[in-house]
Amino acid sequence: VKILHLREASAELIGCAAEILVKAFRENWPDAWPDLASAEREVADCLAPDRAACRGAFDESTGALLGWIGATPIYDGRVWEIHPLAVDPDFQRQGVGTALVRDLERLAAKAGVLTLWLGSDDENAMTSLAGADLYPDPLAHLAALRDRKGHPFAFYRKLGFALAGVLPDANGLGKPDIFMAKRVG
Ligand SMILES: CC(C)(COP(=O)(O)OP(=O)(O)OC[C@H]1O[C@@H](n2cnc3c(N)ncnc32)[C@H](O)[C@@H]1OP(=O)(O)O)[C@@H](O)C(=O)NCCC(=O)NCCS
Repeated sequence: VKILHLREASAELIGCAAEILVKAFRENWPDAWPDLASAEREVADCLAPDRAACRGAFDESTGALLGWIGATPIYDGRVWEIHPLAVDPDFQRQGVGTALVRDLERLAAKAGVLTLWLGSDDENAMTSLAGADLYPDPLAHLAALRDRKGHPFAFYRKLGFALAGVLPDANGLGKPDIFMAKRVG
């Protein structure tokens, strides 16, 4: 795959970015981008100059967009928050997500960023944290985190991200947000 700033892509391919967002999140996060219009707004926001990066992975032979990643600077730019990351379901498990995160890490290192950060919601009973009362010790529950049906924390863990926190009930009772972080460089 070839990775470029999404701004360098045609309007048609930028439209594909919105479609990928809807398709990739539909099954497990149906409220994230329920329609094309909400996804188009997200793509436009990611292309804004105040964002740290908005990069697309393109098939080298067909030029098709396979996935994309956005990042926002937080904590005065010392941290970049990854949001969103989506790979076309037809091209998942082929290394596209890895290529996008690695590319972002390279850009973050160049920009002097110390930490990559992300939150990944569990709204669909994908992990052992779903449906549980995480109090009084959310971190004990986090330490015992288990996957049930392909929650992306396992993907990020393979890329060297560490579990860094959990926000109980972020998306409703028993539906937490799981935080992960990685030192850059
Ligand atoms: C999560 C996502 C970005 C991964 O992209 P991908 O291109 O499929 O990932 P890769 O092919 O680079 O996978 C790298 C490794 O992680 C593993 N992996 C990928 N997705 C996984 C998942 N959901 N659960 C467990 N392992 C996963 C792969 O099997 C691979 O392992 P290997 O190196 O041992 O072969 C993609 O599945 C996606 O867009 N999912 C829906 C949206 C989403 O979850 N976004 C992230 C929200 S924070």
